[in-house]
Amino acid sequence: MKVLQVGAEIYPLIKTGGLADVLGALPQALCNQGADLRLLLPGLPGIIDAVLHAKRVCQIGPVFGAASVTLLRAQMPYTHVPAYVIDAPFLYRRGGGPYQDRHGGEWADNLQRFGLLGWVAAQLAQGQLDPDWHAEVVHAHDWHAAMSCAYLHAHPADEAASVFTVHNLAFQGLFPHDDWALLGLSSRYMSPAALEFHGQLSFMKAGLKFADRVTTVSPTYAREIATQEFGMGLEGVIRGRGADVSGILNGIDARVWDPAADTALPQRYSAGQLQGKAVCKAALQKRFGLASEAGTPLLGVVSRLTSQKGLDLVLSVLPEIIRMGGQLVVQGTGEASLEAAFRMAADAHPGRVGVLLGYDEIGAHRLIAGADMILVPSRFEPCGLTQMYGLRYGTVPIVRRVGGLADTVRDAGHGEPSTASGNGFVFDTAQPPALQDAISRAFEHYLRHDAWIELMQVGMGESLSWDGPAQQYMALYEHVASDRREHRRKDLD
Ligand code: ADP
Ligand code: GLC
Repeated sequence: MKVLQVGAEIYPLIKTGGLADVLGALPQALCNQGADLRLLLPGLPGIIDAVLHAKRVCQIGPVFGAASVTLLRAQMPYTHVPAYVIDAPFLYRRGGGPYQDRHGGEWADNLQRFGLLGWVAAQLAQGQLDPDWHAEVVHAHDWHAAMSCAYLHAHPADEAASVFTVHNLAFQGLFPHDDWALLGLSSRYMSPAALEFHGQLSFMKAGLKFADRVTTVSPTYAREIATQEFGMGLEGVIRGRGADVSGILNGIDARVWDPAADTALPQRYSAGQLQGKAVCKAALQKRFGLASEAGTPLLGVVSRLTSQKGLDLVLSVLPEIIRMGGQLVVQGTGEASLEAAFRMAADAHPGRVGVLLGYDEIGAHRLIAGADMILVPSRFEPCGLTQMYGLRYGTVPIVRRVGGLADTVRDAGHGEPSTASGNGFVFDTAQPPALQDAISRAFEHYLRHDAWIELMQVGMGESLSWDGPAQQYMALYEHVASDRREHRRKDLD
């Protein structure tokens, strides 16, 4: 099965969130399943400077406002997965982030930057750019890659099938309607039945409308996005796709997230040898200036600080966490108001609350290893990876019952000897009392040492690998590719 994976960020080269973790691990898992897989990535500095053995495949004429566009073939560092990289210096080689400049403003030419990514994907898939390779399936991730589905649809031969994965419906890739001519598509693609969305152009809608199949990163989120509460205005479009929309839960990369092999930790540990976790906790308390108390329940957060993540609820219940004798460490970046609120919380509770406002990959590993519990009280969460990293590290998740959190965390009840196979604590409403109740139950459970160890070990034993999800994607690819072959056969008859 020839598969082209298209995305804008990839761990460890460029990362703004979990999408990068997925693109850093899923391709390798698909290769292990026998896929003839290639990545297609924009030539952002972090990517173009890191790929190995880059060779020129072809020169692509001036397109999307870029005078010089070269398609390179290379290998990813570490995994050696084959990758195509679009070298378009004018569009991609610049400082700042993949989507935003240093001040947090969207790049003004994102339509061209990600229009190009989608267009190249469609050309490549149809064998127009590399004479040695074409794709049977294009798998596009999030709005950044979604235009590949529209360009494939618009292509007269329309040979490769497409799968579009929604990682987060909150980011849609909206652009002024007047810019549509820059996309080089016929005007019929600009109607409300296609890309038009309330007077704007929506790249997300290109994926939702034109992909052969749409997936999201958890089964629960797949159901949620068909509702007004979670659909971000696209619920009608999603409902319109009916059974074409499904959820495949993300896995985690065991090469990167494994407490028994994690070189970031002051001491490694495993489910059978937990002593190292206490060393990680002591080091974390020290690093964040917290009182060195081995028996105090230590809550951790590693997160983008945005309203999605529900961290205002944590601020609301903080006095109660302190009153119950807990400690809190937070590592995150994001909205200025949340950053300021967490900074103030740390100042107000010296020795009990520690906050690091910044992005630090190694620090994230150390925090997740050192905390007793990880808080993920999201308002919505397509999948969520940090609760899974928590499970793997014996750091018990406390989560809201939404999206992938609902699909990965099972409530352990009230601390009585566990009969159910709970692996964490789950609450329903996005209100402080509900979160507070879940934290109280976790703290009660924590006091019962043996029950707590058992709970940690249940989580550490979960199968969270990418093998199962990769098999599900392979089955989906086979399905869409055979539908496409069938279609072509009918066209010829
Ligand atoms: P999202 O993609 O919505 O941000 P996920 O839970 O899927 O949420 O993935 C978040 C990823 O980003 C995880 O790998 C997490 O460890 C990482 N992360 C988030 N904030 C930080 C931070 N401040 N420093 C380091 N890693 C972070
Ligand atoms: C998005 C979602 C997150 C998910 C990640 C990877 O960023 O917000 O829930 O885990 O994508 O799929």
